[in-house]
Amino acid sequence: MEIVKEDQQKLLSKMAVGGGHGEDSHYFDGWKAYNDDPFHPTENTNGVIQLGLAENQLCFDLTKEWMTNNPEASICTAEGVDGFQAVANFQDYHGLPRFRKAVARFMEKQRGGRVRFDPDRIVMSGGATGAHETLAFCLANRGDAFLVPTPYYPGYDRDVGWRTDVQLLPIECDSSNNFVLTKSALEAAYDKAKEANIKVKGLIINNPSNPLGTVLDRDTLRTIVSFINQNNLHLVCDEIYAGTVFTQPDFTSISEIVEEDRDCNCNLIHIVYSLSKDMGLPGFRVGIVYSYNDDVVRCARKMSSFGLVSTQTQYLIASMLSDDEFVEKYIYECRMRLAARYKAFTWGLCQMGIHCLNSNAGLFVWMDLRHLLSKPTIEAETKLWTRIINEVKLNVSPGSSFHCLEPGWFRVCFANIDDETMKLTLRRIESFVMKKKEGTVVPAKRKCWQRNMQLRLSSKRLDDVMMVSQMSPHSPISQSPLVPART
Ligand SMILES: Cc1ncc(COP(=O)(O)O)c(C=O)c1O
Repeated sequence: MEIVKEDQQKLLSKMAVGGGHGEDSHYFDGWKAYNDDPFHPTENTNGVIQLGLAENQLCFDLTKEWMTNNPEASICTAEGVDGFQAVANFQDYHGLPRFRKAVARFMEKQRGGRVRFDPDRIVMSGGATGAHETLAFCLANRGDAFLVPTPYYPGYDRDVGWRTDVQLLPIECDSSNNFVLTKSALEAAYDKAKEANIKVKGLIINNPSNPLGTVLDRDTLRTIVSFINQNNLHLVCDEIYAGTVFTQPDFTSISEIVEEDRDCNCNLIHIVYSLSKDMGLPGFRVGIVYSYNDDVVRCARKMSSFGLVSTQTQYLIASMLSDDEFVEKYIYECRMRLAARYKAFTWGLCQMGIHCLNSNAGLFVWMDLRHLLSKPTIEAETKLWTRIINEVKLNVSPGSSFHCLEPGWFRVCFANIDDETMKLTLRRIESFVMKKKEGTVVPAKRKCWQRNMQLRLSSKRLDDVMMVSQMSPHSPISQSPLVPART
């Protein structure tokens, strides 16, 4: 049987059968566990709850409402069918001018109107996934490397490296300073690469960060920009979570630093963006490369042919994002609802003595379960994760899959489930923690932001927190019709 499999593999390229996709990680294993036994509120109440998917479904009612009110924006409705032929025939890798303009304006709005984006620099790609590959292709040769602060989004290994053979080298960050990237960590990683004779072409940062949910402050961004300028390295800034910043401190885009720093070599700066998170539309595959380098814009545009956003999608998105009233309401609501969910979820965890990294962005929390490990090792983390998947039936993602060097951290997504599923998640965690407590492990001792440290999680009190934390008068959170995503 093994021989047959090996022979079959020889029929394919080495790259195709190699491990470049990274599918063999616990990150994807968790998804498989969910797919095999997905939780459903009525049909499979003991199934695995999907907390490994960074999807923003909290504002889908607003998008749906807009679609209902604007049927002409779709060419597949009676109101829009007159546009069908022109849209169906258009295939140009520059994209619809209306689309590029609308996306540029949307990116400005998501950055508080503090910067300008030129629609002629907007290049399309198949999601941020395609945007990363496009940039890796444009900027680096096979074997070259990009530095990335840890922990980082597991998909980067696939997106940046699989087909281009570009390496990712970790910049080690840890909890001693809340995983903030420091100049010394940056320099240490760069020096290590040079000693190993690896050509470093650039640095990739993700701001706000997946999995940390934190934003980079202005000083750190300035330090990064001066470092890449000094060493003539590219800087790829993945700002896919720009619109998910729900409390202070505000988000600072790299574009603000570029605009204020006259000495910055703009040719080195490139932004990756997408509508997957900020608009909750990952299925539309709207990815953007925004480069300040003309040559990169030209090359990336030619590469768009491999990952065009369909004209039908461009047409619809152009209309949607040109509706200022809708966009402003959406941006506001999204932040309010994320803030409410974050508050309710972290409060629930805190009642059980579980703390998360203090964060203010993203669709997830970075949960600290170090006190539940039998030993401070990756093996112990994997053991705990296996129990969480199999016994607690929650697909959370272990820190090791984000290249986190410190065992015991887990990413938990909170914006792809409805309120009831969130409460069930908390109840499942609570009963696991109680069982553990009856064993050997002592819960972490730290103060919750609530004074009352009562351990048993009362549904009534959780409801109260959720009510208080629903700051928006329009928020439909408590009657959300969501069921967990199945992708
Ligand atoms: C940091 C980061 N970059 C890129 C992506 C890929 O996004 P897209 O769906 O637009 O390809 C993700 C998706 O989770 C992400 O978290």
